[in-house]
Amino acid sequence: MDLGLKGKTALVTASSKGLGKAIAHELSAEGCNVAICARNLVPLKETATEIANATGGKVLPVKADVTSRKQIESLVQTVKDNFKRVDILVCNAGGPPLGTFDKLDESDFKWALELNLTSTINLCRLVLPSMKKRRWGRIINMTSISAKQPLENLMLSNTTRAGVLGFSKTLASEVASRGITVNCLCPGYTMTDRLKNFAKDLSKSSRVSVGQIFNSWQRAIPANRLAEPAEIGYLVAFLASEKAAYITGAAIQIDGGFTRGLL
Ligand SMILES: NC(=O)c1ccc[n+]([C@@H]2O[C@H](COP(=O)([O-])OP(=O)(O)OC[C@H]3O[C@@H](n4cnc5c(N)ncnc54)[C@H](OP(=O)(O)O)[C@@H]3O)[C@@H](O)[C@H]2O)c1
Repeated sequence: MDLGLKGKTALVTASSKGLGKAIAHELSAEGCNVAICARNLVPLKETATEIANATGGKVLPVKADVTSRKQIESLVQTVKDNFKRVDILVCNAGGPPLGTFDKLDESDFKWALELNLTSTINLCRLVLPSMKKRRWGRIINMTSISAKQPLENLMLSNTTRAGVLGFSKTLASEVASRGITVNCLCPGYTMTDRLKNFAKDLSKSSRVSVGQIFNSWQRAIPANRLAEPAEIGYLVAFLASEKAAYITGAAIQIDGGFTRGLL
């Protein structure tokens, strides 16, 4: 199937490693010009080179922290200067730390909202005017299965991701008639550095070994394995494509069957 992505420009935030990197890789493999960002420039540049060497595509690394309004304004401008426009926006960010309500204070909630919700809203605001003019756009907001089925010890993620779902669903209906789709992805347990660090932190606080933690996650997943980051990239590439023009306002879990709800 030709996804019709050749020559489109994609901006994938928080993408020097993990899910963002896998998504950028897949969009580049499908023929998009891709801009990637992260806070640390050295690994970001290495990732850009790695993807460009593998796909033969153009990959632009831009240092930016998605929680800084100024930096994302400059990020979007840099992408436009280099690739003329943003056709596809993938809003990804780092994940908030573990914690139950008792262990978190107001500043933790404010920071997590900035990281995962406000950054998404601000990025959408920056790219939407030109998408509306061209009557074409794809926005894919990265959340987590925690938006559909809250996870233990992840109060901040459970709270902020639900906000992203509400924002995205509302925005989707406001821009659908302009050829712009807005969808959320809700990945389950996926083998990235964040998940490995998450397992280490849980191990310290519970005295259960990292191996046992991974085994317990695996047992809870009907597919009996964790996701590979590339599998998230394939789904994003489809949602970004011409073929997915009629999918909007969706929150799609990709979790090996982990989420048990019917909707
Ligand atoms: N892995 C999973 O199982 C899973 C499942 C569901 C949802 N998620 C969510 O998906 C997102 C990505 O997770 P991941 O597992 O891919 O994490 P990861 O492997 O730790 O990668 C995070 C990436 O985001 C960048 N980043 C972090 N904070 C940033 C910021 N403020 N501004 C710009 N870039 C930033 C990091 O680079 P720098 O540090 O250089 O900035 C890095 O490139 C997180 O929100 C996570 O909670 C993950």
